[in-house]
Amino acid sequence: MNYRIAVLPGDGIGPEICDGAIKVLKKIGQKFGHEFEFEFLPIGGAAIDKYGTPLPDFTVEKCLASDSVLLGAVGGYKWDNMPVDKRPEKGLLGIRKAMGLYSNIRPAKLWPSLAQASPLKHELVKDGIEIIIVRELTGGIYFGERGRGEENGAAYAWDTEKYSVPEIERITRIACELASKRSKKLISVDKANVLETSRLWRKTVHEYAAKHFPEVEVTDMLVDNTAMQIVKNPTQFDVVVTSNMFGDILSDEAAQVTGSIGMLASSSLGDGTRGLYEPIHGSAPDIAGQDIANPIATILAAAMMLRDSFSLTAEYNEIVSAIERVLDKGWRTADIYSENCTKVSGSRMAQLICDEI
Ligand code: IPM
Ligand code: MG
Repeated sequence: MNYRIAVLPGDGIGPEICDGAIKVLKKIGQKFGHEFEFEFLPIGGAAIDKYGTPLPDFTVEKCLASDSVLLGAVGGYKWDNMPVDKRPEKGLLGIRKAMGLYSNIRPAKLWPSLAQASPLKHELVKDGIEIIIVRELTGGIYFGERGRGEENGAAYAWDTEKYSVPEIERITRIACELASKRSKKLISVDKANVLETSRLWRKTVHEYAAKHFPEVEVTDMLVDNTAMQIVKNPTQFDVVVTSNMFGDILSDEAAQVTGSIGMLASSSLGDGTRGLYEPIHGSAPDIAGQDIANPIATILAAAMMLRDSFSLTAEYNEIVSAIERVLDKGWRTADIYSENCTKVSGSRMAQLICDEI
C-alpha cells in the first residue's frame, strides 16, 4: 500500500526527532512492503519566520489531503514575546481544530527496563503503570473567548471555558470504547466542586456511559486529587477522560511518573481515520541541534499512526518490540540514562531501532 504522510517538523528538536521516526517508517516500509511518501510542511516558529504565520493555509490544505500527519514540536524562546496570534503554539492549536481532532489519546506506560528512571519509589512502580489519558482537544478554555481590558486603571485579562453536551458525549464515547476493551473502568476527571462546565461534564459522562456502555464503570475524581493520586498510587488508573486543560497538565505528570517525557507519544483523531501523531514533549530549544534528544516518543507516535490510522497492527507491534529490544540491550539517550547502560545520541538511537526491525 501507498500512504501519504504530511510531516510537520516544527521547532527546536522537532526536525531531528521527525528524522528518526521517518527512518524507522522507511525501514518498516521495506520490511512489510509499504510505500510511505513524506511531504514536509511548515508550522510553528519555523512557519512564522518564513511565512509570517504559525499555520499557513497550504499547510492545513495539505494535511487535510494527506492520509495522516506526523508532528515534531512547536515553540521556542525566540517567539515567546510575540502577540498571541503569532505564537508557534497557535499553529498547533489551529491544526488540531482545522482537522477536527477532538480526541487526544496519551498512553503513559512504564517500560520495565526503565523502571529505574521513574522518580517514584520502586514499590509504587514495580507492578508496572499504564495510564491512558483521553483528553478533549478542540474545546474548553483553550478555545473559549478571551480578552483583555482595563478597569479603574488596572489592566485585566480573561479566558473562558465552555463545553457543550455533544462535545462531552463524543469524547466520552472514545474513552468508553477504550475502557470497554481494557479494564472496563473509566475515571472521569473534573473540578465539579467549583466549575459549572465540570458539573455538566460529570452529568453528561455518567448519562452517556450508562446508556451506551453499561459495562463500563465510571468513577469521578477531582483534578487536584488526581494530581496527588498519580504520584501516590499510579496503578489505580487505567483509562482517564478529561477536559483539554486538565488533560494537558495531567499527561505531563503521568509521563514523568513513567520515567521520561521523552518516551510518550499521542494520537489525535476526529471522526475519520486521518489523525495527527506527535510526541507529548515540547520543542526543548535548550538541547536542539545537539543530537541528544530522545527520538523514541516520535517513533512511537509514528507507530501509533500505523496502527490507528492505517490498521497496520503487525507493523506497530514490530516497532514497539524493536524499541524494547534496544532498551533491553542497555542503549539509552541522555534523558533515560542510568548506570551500567550505554549512552547514545538521538540519531544513533533511531538507527539502533531500525537495525532491530
Ligand atoms: C501539548 C502541549 C500543547 C498544549 C502546547 C504546545 C500548545 O503542551 O500538546 O500538551 O497545551 O496542548
Ligand atoms: Mg502539554
